[in-house]
Amino acid sequence: MGKDLRSFLAMLEQRNRGELLRITRQVDPVYEVSVIQQKLAAAGRYPVLYFEDVRGSSLPLVTNLFGTYDLLGLALDVVEPKSKADYLAEYLRRENDHKAVREVPIRTAPVKQIILTGDQVDLSTLPIAWHAEKDSGRYIVVGGMVMRDPETGVINVGMYRHEVRGNRAVLCMFIPAHHAAYIYRRYKELKRPMEAALFIGHHPAVCLGMCTREPIEVDEYEVMGGFLDEALEVVPAETVDLPVPARAEIVLEGTFDFAKETLDGPFAEYTGYYGHRALCAWFDVRCITMRRDAIYHDLDPAHREHNYAATLGNESAVYKAVKNVVPSVRAVHRPASGCCVYHVYVSISKRLQGEGKMAGLAALSAVHNIKHVFVVDEDVDIYNEEEVLWAVATRLEADQDISIISHCLGANLDPSAYGERRFEPGHMTTKVIFDATRPVTLPFSERITPPKEVWDRIKLEDYIDGWSARERATDRPSLAV
Ligand SMILES: Cc1cc2nc3c(=O)[nH]c(=O)nc-3n(C[C@H](O)[C@H](O)[C@H](O)COP(=O)(O)O)c2cc1C
Repeated sequence: MGKDLRSFLAMLEQRNRGELLRITRQVDPVYEVSVIQQKLAAAGRYPVLYFEDVRGSSLPLVTNLFGTYDLLGLALDVVEPKSKADYLAEYLRRENDHKAVREVPIRTAPVKQIILTGDQVDLSTLPIAWHAEKDSGRYIVVGGMVMRDPETGVINVGMYRHEVRGNRAVLCMFIPAHHAAYIYRRYKELKRPMEAALFIGHHPAVCLGMCTREPIEVDEYEVMGGFLDEALEVVPAETVDLPVPARAEIVLEGTFDFAKETLDGPFAEYTGYYGHRALCAWFDVRCITMRRDAIYHDLDPAHREHNYAATLGNESAVYKAVKNVVPSVRAVHRPASGCCVYHVYVSISKRLQGEGKMAGLAALSAVHNIKHVFVVDEDVDIYNEEEVLWAVATRLEADQDISIISHCLGANLDPSAYGERRFEPGHMTTKVIFDATRPVTLPFSERITPPKEVWDRIKLEDYIDGWSARERATDRPSLAV
């Protein structure tokens, strides 16, 4: 009960496996927070980072909550997985297990410990980071923006980028196809004032919940409850007619000013390139409620944690689409090398001729932004890119096993996307299926695997002095036999 950001951090601390790193030395929220995260990534390290002392603010900052695929598993309480495929299995179990919210008394809601209104509202007191040199400013990147559908009253929550404008306003970049944009447009058409609340800092399962693409009729607080595996605790906001998460760290309440729509950006994006400027809504903040010792949650948008935050949701969509046509699908993974978006690895237990290509077609049609699908047999570990590429090297012949479909709807942020003509800007991309599965009715060379009894019996620490626990974790069958 009572899961939140700090219960998650406490769990990491208790595990004591280096998944959480505390930094006591003062850091500047301008570039330094992101560069420390990026330097660790360059060294192959992706711990959650807890900056205790951020210049210009009395609040600590936590980032990289989605830095590894394993952290996603931990967000879903999969603490000792047998395989990484367990994470998607748990995600699939929770995504339809919606749970009604639980309203709690205001006096017990940590997010109400401090209430700031009027002149007390000052966003400059929060440690909001400036992530990349050519970004247009400081951005809140990992909040949950809560709003009500003006017609149905259903709660919608999503994660959007918010450039800070002055001390009492933030911009909101709603992608036109997203529900938030639809709801925003509807308020405008109806000429009704639109209220919202942006909460920052909660259990990472809550963040996974806000990135799912449920029908607009679905209450996304209930979706978050499913991912949390317990009802989300809520309390009424102070100045707007909305429930807000009682165990959030910080809530910004306010209203939209339709007359002030403006462009934000450039903004460092998940692709590793600067994204273009975009039209944004203007959100006036009229109240801040927060914990007495609030922790500010940040995310580096150009770091792979941006992509991992949404990857299980996308894997789930692909898995379900492939399962429809190839019921023997074993696992689906969207690796960081493809920004967790453009590449998908699918493993199937192939039973029929043509299932490899069918799995590829289904995966491509599941999510528009996928570009390259690699379909492999079930003996290939799709969480190990070396194995996937080994399968491509040894089981695929390009003339028959690669299918190319040009001029498809793709991701508009893909820097190589094109328009009606190849080099004009647009959002079309060329899709490719790499079918690296073996034939089902013809013999194929036998893969070498180590003798099982010997593999299980040999313990490297018995042969090699100082074989560490960390190295033991990678002591598993691989190609290098
Ligand atoms: C770190 C992160 C940043 C995101 N930024 C944006 C954004 O700026 N604008 C947007 O429309 N969606 C953004 N998304 C995706 C949405 O949060 C996600 O698609 C969500 O489901 C949209 O909800 P909605 O359809 O209810 O509006 C982001 C996702 C992540 C993980």
